Amino acid sequence: MTRKKLIAANWKMNKTPKEMGEFIRAFSEVKGQKVLEASRVEVLIAMPSVLIPLARDYGLPPEVRLGAQNMHSASHGAFTGELSAEMLLSVGVQSVVLGHSERRQSFGETDHAVALKVQVAVDRGLEPILCVGETRQEREAGLTEKVVARQVRVVLEGLRDPSQRLVIAYEPVWAIGTGLAASSDEANEVHRFIRGVAGACQGSVYADSLRIMYGGSVTTQNALDLFQKEDIDGALIGGASLDPRSFREIIEVAQKVVSIP
Ligand code: PGA
Repeated sequence: MTRKKLIAANWKMNKTPKEMGEFIRAFSEVKGQKVLEASRVEVLIAMPSVLIPLARDYGLPPEVRLGAQNMHSASHGAFTGELSAEMLLSVGVQSVVLGHSERRQSFGETDHAVALKVQVAVDRGLEPILCVGETRQEREAGLTEKVVARQVRVVLEGLRDPSQRLVIAYEPVWAIGTGLAASSDEANEVHRFIRGVAGACQGSVYADSLRIMYGGSVTTQNALDLFQKEDIDGALIGGASLDPRSFREIIEVAQKVVSIP
């Protein structure tokens, strides 16, 4: 089963419109443009909501998918500070990151709240990127599989229709923003486990085609190792995606890996 690799930037709460413009100019230099046009790799940027409606006008190439970083499960109403799927779709959003550990830890998002958001997103035609991953304490206590299985199951068991596509990002919390990425073997092992859980929930055809990205301190240095692993289908990149050159370099690494027969 060949799964198209997905390289996604997670800008978090970074960049003003001016800074986005500078990023896009540098990212889209001739070489970068060619890389995208010939791409056998999908590229996405999940950006702060205020930038989304400006991104295409600022020159974001059409090959780069537009992503948001969060969404509310209701379609409208008295939810101060929130955005609905309908709102995101109306400004061209194609994918939405859901259940990022920063949302779970700092904003109290529960497994069930995340599962509901994922269901709403797929129902509306947005591609969710479901983030899962264990904390350092959980890993040290040998709970990685238990935690990740719980986070994946609550979403996949509830999916009404297995044709509803989503992407999973395995992001060990201890690896996010720390410079301590999981090794490619450690990550691949958890990815394989997640694929097994997905198979138990929705069947092996579903699991085989499910894209599972790795996130947590991905850089130009460790990308090759990670992307060569059988069950790693791309990356969700925070820090290294803020710099147009390193983001582009990581995309190029993914392209090299997919072009090796
Ligand atoms: P990082 O962030 O690449 O800076 O570790 C990844 C993420 O939080 O998605």
